[in-house]
Amino acid sequence: MTRIAEGVFWVGAIDWTLRDFHGYVTPHGTTYNAYLVLDEKKALIDTVRSSHFTELVARVKEVLDPGEIDYLVSSHVEPDHSGSLAQVLALCPKAQVVTVERHGEQGLQKYFHQKLPLMTVKEGSTLSLGKRSLSFIPIPLVHWPDNMMVFLSPDAVLFSTDCYGQHVATSTRFDDQSDMGLLMAEAAKYYANIIFPYPTQAARALEKTLALQPKVICPSHGVMWRGHLPQILEAYGRWTRGETRPRALVVYDTMWHSTEAMALAMVEGIAQEGVEVVLHNLGSSDLSHIVADLLEARALAVGSPILNNNLLPPVAAFLTYLKGLRPRGKIGAAFGSFGWGGATAVKAIKEDLALAGLEVMEDELAVRFSPTPEELQACRQLGQKLAQKIKG
Ligand SMILES: [Fe+2]
Ligand SMILES: [Fe+2]
Repeated sequence: MTRIAEGVFWVGAIDWTLRDFHGYVTPHGTTYNAYLVLDEKKALIDTVRSSHFTELVARVKEVLDPGEIDYLVSSHVEPDHSGSLAQVLALCPKAQVVTVERHGEQGLQKYFHQKLPLMTVKEGSTLSLGKRSLSFIPIPLVHWPDNMMVFLSPDAVLFSTDCYGQHVATSTRFDDQSDMGLLMAEAAKYYANIIFPYPTQAARALEKTLALQPKVICPSHGVMWRGHLPQILEAYGRWTRGETRPRALVVYDTMWHSTEAMALAMVEGIAQEGVEVVLHNLGSSDLSHIVADLLEARALAVGSPILNNNLLPPVAAFLTYLKGLRPRGKIGAAFGSFGWGGATAVKAIKEDLALAGLEVMEDELAVRFSPTPEELQACRQLGQKLAQKIKG
């Protein structure tokens, strides 16, 4: 248990060893944050993943008997936060489950297949706990339709659900006790993998956050922000506006090193123009890491060989992921190699990059079998052209 303010506690769980969060690679683990607010009425904000139920209950019991809880607020139906809701409810016979109308209500009923003691709220709803009150701020699609932030007055503590989260497991609970380099990198990775498709909704959530002037921000994952609020809020400003910097990513996979040689030549060309460039081989870099690197990059070049008249499957998987995330305002380029099927990989990459919302360069660079020195020079030149577009 960690005290946040008078009568406000973190009672969540720490998942130190989690390395895969439905495909999102989490090298630093994560936490499932739950918060307890004590007043005349007692509220528990969120539960934890069902695997960590006993850890949650042990922390709650450090503060009070769970049977005293009056409200169980679900800020988000996703099972890492509501997964132990039914088990917790069994310990809190008088508790009502507070959820956002429609999507929250329907989502919880559909997950738990049982009649829950629901109390629905919407934008502008408040709930008095005695001397203090909770107000509810739905932020649909950041990241599920039912996400809502909860604001505690007069303490000015904002429970921000998916906003400002980071997948890190730490023994520290606050930003000012933690490694800020790690937190900001993980907050960026979280934004890129979870919130990227919804910049408009996230910008609205940020606006609402700024208007509330919170003293502490308590997200669903990772540490709480109290010492470096301007830093995380400014970062969300940049990300929701889609701000980029002169940086390119070259992402490829390869069978017999032809596409790899092309990728390396592209990197050389980009770097020759003084533009920062990052190279990822899809055989060794995971998708969640790559899109974190893409977040503030201005351009993305993707390369693939042909396998059975198709893209190499890891490249197809990356492009599928990218189409879901829809990164806006970036330049795209395609390259690749082939044997006897023709240059279909480059065409397919260009199509997918356009569908993902990138502004795709016309140039097509497809090499048969192994690139000649002249063809590698053409790759360097494409890299230079891309870098000039980035600078221009
Ligand atoms: Fe979550
Ligand atoms: Fe979520």
